[in-house]
Amino acid sequence: MKMRSFFSITLLLLAFLVAAAGAKKSKPPVKPVGLIPDYYKVTGTCKQAEKLVKQVVQEKVRNDSTLGAKLLRVHYHDCFVKGCDASILLNTVGTNQSEKDARPNLSLGGFEVIDEIKTRIEKVCTQRVSCADILALAARDAVSFPFKKPLWDVLTGRKDGRVSLISNVNGNLPSPFSDFATLQTIFSNKGLDINDLVALSGAHTIGVSHCGAFSRRLYNFTGKGDADPSLDPAYAEFLKKQCPNPASPATVVGMDPNSTLSFDTHYFTAVKKHQGLFQSDAALLTNATSADIVRRFQSRDSFFKQFAKSMLKMGAIDVLLGDAGEIRKDCRFVN
Ligand code: HEM
Repeated sequence: MKMRSFFSITLLLLAFLVAAAGAKKSKPPVKPVGLIPDYYKVTGTCKQAEKLVKQVVQEKVRNDSTLGAKLLRVHYHDCFVKGCDASILLNTVGTNQSEKDARPNLSLGGFEVIDEIKTRIEKVCTQRVSCADILALAARDAVSFPFKKPLWDVLTGRKDGRVSLISNVNGNLPSPFSDFATLQTIFSNKGLDINDLVALSGAHTIGVSHCGAFSRRLYNFTGKGDADPSLDPAYAEFLKKQCPNPASPATVVGMDPNSTLSFDTHYFTAVKKHQGLFQSDAALLTNATSADIVRRFQSRDSFFKQFAKSMLKMGAIDVLLGDAGEIRKDCRFVN
């Protein structure tokens, strides 16, 4: 009797093992998971990656407080054109003009900081950390530096793209002259809604602009020698002093006057007072829903919460995962 139950248990065990082995065999191939928190730590590919990014960024921002705005804009221009794949970091090679050469990208800056982070990381984790992740982390760390805590989460695991074409830029980055419908269409093509559009436009609470991006609002806007009627007249006069007609192409003005270095809600106060610098900023008041959101984001808590959510969404646009793409050795060139 004992012997029989011993055999039945052994048989059951065997049957279970065979079934388990079979199940293992028929398991579908592993699909790349999406972006995850702390990819390089979780996968053990480069435990120090995020710490190293933060270290270099902090060293740099301490000496140059304009870096947050620069890196945030580069990250945005990366994500909106062919996804967050670091295609914006690639240099023109031979006759193949890269995204960097497109007009809206000529005023980008901060590339040398990404190079420096990459060089430091390569020394300890050779070809393990993507330039796309470095850019996303560096933008967050640079903007967050004055707050001594991260303002938004950055998921990681992006791979770098192998293609960067000047021709991909047109139509994917809204111009400062865009109206609301154009802004909404371009954002919605990236999976971003009106909340994201308004929150992310709030990035203009830091940084500067060249006169050329808005000076047509100041002079002869409607053909009667006047300024854009949707621009606060006193603010238009203030801007005219900084950007005479014609202005030097090198002149820049703070987008959020008196507070260009601090990430806060002043941008929304300015837009509400018709002091948004670009037509695209003013356009946020021309739609009832977005005008409401502009008012809601006067509250720091509402803006910061939505900005963090929208950055997560923006950072996930068309990312390359798993075996797609590569990890560049040098962020400026494909391998
Ligand atoms: C909504 C559509 C947008 C338009 C039309 C737009 C347009 C512009 C323009 C024309 C400039 C000035 C460039 C120059 O002359 O140097 C600028 C600067 C800037 N933009 Fe935007 N932008 C938009 C959305 C965004 C988004 C979504 C972000 C980031 C999340 C962003 C971040 C910045 C930053 C930080 C700067 C300042 C850069 C610096 O100081 O170097 N922008 N933007």
